[in-house]
Amino acid sequence: MFSRYKKSGTGGAKPVDQEAEAPKEAASTKPVEETPNQSLRRPAPAVAAKAVPQDKERKRKERMAEIKLDLHRSLLDNLNLSALDTATEADLRAEISSIAGEVLEEQSIVLNREDRATLTQELYDEVRGLGPLETLLKDDTVNDILVNGPQQIFVERAGKLELSDITFKDEKHLLRIIDKIVSAVGRRVDESNPYVDARLQDGSRFNAMVPPIAVDGSLVSIRKFKKDKLGIDDLVKFGAFSEEMAAYLQAAVATRLNVIVSGGTGSGKTTTLNALSSFIDNSERILTIEDTAELQLQQIHVGRMESRPPNVEGKGEVSPRDCLKNALRMRPDRIIVGETRGEEVIDMLQAMNTGHDGSMTTIHANNPRDGISRLENMVAMAGIEMPLKAVRSQISSAVNLMVQASRLQDGSRRMTSITEITGMEGDVISMQEIFRFQRVGLTSDNKIIGHFTGTGVRSNFTERFRLWGYDLPPSIFEPIAAE
Ligand SMILES: Nc1ncnc2c1ncn2[C@@H]1O[C@H](COP(=O)(O)OP(=O)(O)OP(=O)(O)O)[C@@H](O)[C@H]1O
Ligand SMILES: [Mg+2]
Repeated sequence: MFSRYKKSGTGGAKPVDQEAEAPKEAASTKPVEETPNQSLRRPAPAVAAKAVPQDKERKRKERMAEIKLDLHRSLLDNLNLSALDTATEADLRAEISSIAGEVLEEQSIVLNREDRATLTQELYDEVRGLGPLETLLKDDTVNDILVNGPQQIFVERAGKLELSDITFKDEKHLLRIIDKIVSAVGRRVDESNPYVDARLQDGSRFNAMVPPIAVDGSLVSIRKFKKDKLGIDDLVKFGAFSEEMAAYLQAAVATRLNVIVSGGTGSGKTTTLNALSSFIDNSERILTIEDTAELQLQQIHVGRMESRPPNVEGKGEVSPRDCLKNALRMRPDRIIVGETRGEEVIDMLQAMNTGHDGSMTTIHANNPRDGISRLENMVAMAGIEMPLKAVRSQISSAVNLMVQASRLQDGSRRMTSITEITGMEGDVISMQEIFRFQRVGLTSDNKIIGHFTGTGVRSNFTERFRLWGYDLPPSIFEPIAAE
């Protein structure tokens, strides 16, 4: 019946158990004697609770998962995969639906229309798309996808990581999907080359590491590409920073201060950088350099560059530094480097010091002071023989502003500090914090309570802002008392 795409002489699927397995009894727990010390502590967070099917819905899901698994197997056995490459979407969907129908009938499984449609879609995703990942990639509420081996996929929704109920069949299945992704971008991943960084077709950032380096099964992380990046107004609305801070940042970017956004991994650095770039005037020529092109600048005059790792033979690398050196020859008004993490720091600092005012980048650091040390370390690691004082002096004259992005313990992302670099005092770079996020406590459901406040220190650039037409009222720098 499934003619063209069916391999000849293969058997059908094995029958499935129609009832989901009964829930396993939770291990009995012995009462623990409470010591005085323990009672002072908060109870430890529950260890990853094992999924216990509690209701009908759960059972239904488990049953569906089993049917799906079997159908996947049956499809892979039955379909002539090489013929599929040329099949049209409609053909393939019809074919899959008919195979599914046959197997279901063979096993006397009755599904309602909705379940059947989901099943066909999932099978289609498996054959044409990225299998279980496809649903998550299509789900707009999901920001990040983190796979820890075939049975555990975490997703981040609204700043919170949660375990999804989606799984891969086994490691082989996961590896097949990884291979599908990386071969589409002309890369390879296997035992001898066990990790890869790539950009998916839709612009999402993809990183994978496979066994034996990944011990318990392949690790995959995907940062989904957001079509509509969060803008300044969204960030203010979400409480990432205050209206006053936005006004200050607008003045800082428009008057061409050199800005570094520092923050931990996933703290919102790229989002902040992108939002800040909206303050750049349309008449300026901007060049962007990134490992994976994520920035979406709204200006007209933008040149985008993406660095390239070496290919499988170790050739063809174009490093961020190569891009930066070339960018400097392309008459940019401003340079934006997605992330500075290596020797390109030298050229970045030089660019900031020599006529490309208003350049911006991000670095990995937990606070502005650490950010400066990180810059110093990067300069040292680039093999530049320069006394520390000279390095610091170069940093202090290149960088005007550090914006600290943080992902707080409740999952919220906030700009926890805006700090100006004011120069050198002896051997030390002097800094002054202008705005900060003041934490005051925690709600009963572990949400952070706090507010943004000026520190009472007036910006060193007030006069510059005024001369450029950004006359900020002194009141925005005033500290706000906790309510
Ligand atoms: N203030 C915010 N509120 C809600 N979501 C945010 C906020 N800032 C960033 N995000 C989301 O958080 C995720 C991580 O953001 P982003 O890519 O900017 O982080 P990053 O620090 O650049 O990460 P990496 O270190 O991996 O480069 C994105 O999905 C982004 O949309
Ligand atoms: Mg980033």
